[in-house]
Amino acid sequence: MSVETIASQPFQDQKPGTSGLRKKVRVFEQPHYLENFVQSIFDTQKGYQDAPLVVGGDGRYYNRQAIQTILRIAAANGCGRVLLGRGGIFSTPAVSHMIRKHGACGGIILSASHNPGGPDEDFGIKFNTPNGGPAAEKVTEAIYTATRHINRYHMLDTPDIDLDQIGIALVGDMRVEIVDSVCDYADLMEQLFDFDRIRALFQSGFRMRFDAMHAVTGPYAREIIENRLGAPQGTVVNGIPLEDFGHGHPDPNLVYAKELADHLFGPDAPDFGAASDGDGDRNMVLGRHFFVTPSDSLALILANADLAPGYRSRVTGVARSMPTSQAADRVAAKLGLNCYETPTGWKFFGNLLDAGKITLCGEESFGTGSDHVREKDGLWAVLFWLNILAERRRSVAEIVREHWQNYGRNYYTRHDYEAVDSSAANGLIDALRAACATLPGRRLGSYTVEYADDFRYLDPIDDSVSEKQGIRIGFEDGSRIVYRLSGTGTEGATLRIYIEAYEADPAKHDLDTQQALAELIGIADGLAGIRERTGRNEPTVIT
Ligand code: G1P
Ligand code: ZN
Repeated sequence: MSVETIASQPFQDQKPGTSGLRKKVRVFEQPHYLENFVQSIFDTQKGYQDAPLVVGGDGRYYNRQAIQTILRIAAANGCGRVLLGRGGIFSTPAVSHMIRKHGACGGIILSASHNPGGPDEDFGIKFNTPNGGPAAEKVTEAIYTATRHINRYHMLDTPDIDLDQIGIALVGDMRVEIVDSVCDYADLMEQLFDFDRIRALFQSGFRMRFDAMHAVTGPYAREIIENRLGAPQGTVVNGIPLEDFGHGHPDPNLVYAKELADHLFGPDAPDFGAASDGDGDRNMVLGRHFFVTPSDSLALILANADLAPGYRSRVTGVARSMPTSQAADRVAAKLGLNCYETPTGWKFFGNLLDAGKITLCGEESFGTGSDHVREKDGLWAVLFWLNILAERRRSVAEIVREHWQNYGRNYYTRHDYEAVDSSAANGLIDALRAACATLPGRRLGSYTVEYADDFRYLDPIDDSVSEKQGIRIGFEDGSRIVYRLSGTGTEGATLRIYIEAYEADPAKHDLDTQQALAELIGIADGLAGIRERTGRNEPTVIT
């Protein structure tokens, strides 16, 4: 089989962000664009001659073409063996698991997460390292540097292989093992959670709806929830992955998973509702007429971790991203566990997980996970909840209310201002940063500022420092306001304001969130000068 070496030119825009390289499909379709990036992975990484490479994506438009290209380039570069999900499908947490389980040299994930898919929408490629997690910054920097100097790539001239046939295919001398995308992952879940108890829960008449949003978790949820756990057929809805996600926006929140939310707040609501995103790493959890915030979900999983066989008596600690509410901190303090506050982004959990300092971690942006893989994991969180519900046999609302009684409630909201003029947004953050020194001790309405800073993270494992991770303003009663600019937005700047108030008194646990936080929201807007600086009167999205 002849290896073609094809002359190429670098592209200047192949810098991977925190979640890999994400661009419009049209950008990826330019001649040599994908090829350059993939060749740059092989030019900078080692081990692919000896250990397998895992490849798969969330099934969005361009997934299949990209995989054929990646296989030809991998083979031409001397890669010996690829583990490929059938149909080119793997959820992001499943890739992470496959890398770890099979001692792979890494994995290539094709996804743009929760962004829409289709010929005019988004595509993405990301490289994960042998620990199963997203490549650290020095690795993505090396790949990026290679893309800027590349002048050739190697590729076999071979026909497409059949991606849908389980078994072995050859691309040149390279073995492509096309495996069931779900099986190994489902087996892992079965080791972590008490499937017998959850099966008994469903047998007792417990009703659930899982909305796969036409994205990658459909086959996983069907196999695990319907086949292995015995939930009735039809429990999983929108369960067939579509290239355009059925024209949807596969992001599990109250805005984009509105169909599910309406059902759970409607007259015939089941006991439990859940959804996941495009590539399966995010989750949303709902009870009948009840929404669980991701921050509360993390705290509650931590508090109930002993109910799940895979976590009994082995949780060492928890980490949350800085803007995530402090609800988990209260649980950790009571249980005497480690507790870390990290910058936004899953990659900051990796070192803590690898070192065994933490077992569980999460972000307010619908991401929850543990040391079982090195990505956040949507279905895992849903199964954790099912395990808790199967043991406690109380409603979601009752379990969350009882949690608040024990630990107090952290009222929490996020206000996003999207597509703000970038210089206005930067000016706003700069002004807040400058004001930090003058704020401590100041009285704002009924709140007194205890501290104000621009969050700086010192990684306790490798001593690396991450500066300017967001403005934190902490008040004496434990309430907080956090401001940061999104690192994933595509248009102008996205300003995120996170507002949190602690309420110990159970008599005050049933307020409307926006009302409970109204005074702090006013303070947050006033301090930043939102109207004056951005011209906006209200947020684009309130979560
Ligand atoms: C957002 C979320 C963040 C998450 C990231 C990738 O980033 O806020 O928690 O890790 O997406 O899923 P942001 O746009 O805020 O930078
Ligand atoms: Zn995702």
